[in-house]
Amino acid sequence: MHFKISIVIYVTLFCYINAEEDVLPSFIKKCDFNDKELERCIRKQIENSLSRFTKGIPELGVPSIDPVQLDDINIDGNGLKLKFAEAAMHGLSNSKLTDLKVDIGSDEEDFNLGFKGNMSLTAKYNIDGKILILPIKGDGDAVVKANNVEVNIQSKLVHVKDSKGRSHLKLITPNYKYDIQSTTFDLKNLFNGNKELAETTLSFANENWRQLMDDLAPPAIKQIVRTVIKAINKFFSKIPISEMLEGYKDS
Ligand SMILES: *[C@@H]1O[C@H](CO)[C@@H](O)[C@H](O)[C@H]1NC(C)=O
Repeated sequence: MHFKISIVIYVTLFCYINAEEDVLPSFIKKCDFNDKELERCIRKQIENSLSRFTKGIPELGVPSIDPVQLDDINIDGNGLKLKFAEAAMHGLSNSKLTDLKVDIGSDEEDFNLGFKGNMSLTAKYNIDGKILILPIKGDGDAVVKANNVEVNIQSKLVHVKDSKGRSHLKLITPNYKYDIQSTTFDLKNLFNGNKELAETTLSFANENWRQLMDDLAPPAIKQIVRTVIKAINKFFSKIPISEMLEGYKDS
């Protein structure tokens, strides 16, 4: 009986401690707040942990962002109707850090984050209309491969206190820009599977990929950035600055 009770207490205590202690996952190492090369240390930690981070940190409630599930994308303009449903963007976990500006001041700082990767979007598509002059029509599975997608996020990094008075970081009012080197579309079942027509039209679409991407990329990138920011902020909300940076004192 005693034994049972002590197990119950132990388990409860263990869970309690686990839930209360907001510790860095083991794949991220603390940086020293007073290090002159703090930014370099943070960059290294991000580079080292990017692929793990994007797969999610369940114990901190940080969701996986590879793939990013996208809301339906509807484009209707320039004589073309295009819908992507059940869309998912893959590839963030293999992306590379290209830019980082971070300063942990005491209140509000600028924050820049740039990353670059080869992304692929899978979806159920429905297309009807014209690309430039060429008619296109069909529905089925779509794979859109975008090469060297570079996204640069500029944001404010502010400090917020939790209920215990500990400071946490938070990204607010993010802006972003992006660049895509090239894109290939694979739309299955164009023209009800008419191969000849499908091939001609698809290669034309691929030659003129920018035309399609000008419509498609903005809603997709917007959702990717929103999802990335949300994941980072979830992480920040769980881990106080003092837990990320050795020698950081809450003011
Ligand atoms: C994307 O793929 C190309 C070709 O395979 C490769 O050269 C390039 O380095 C990749 N880009 C990134 C950011 O991984």
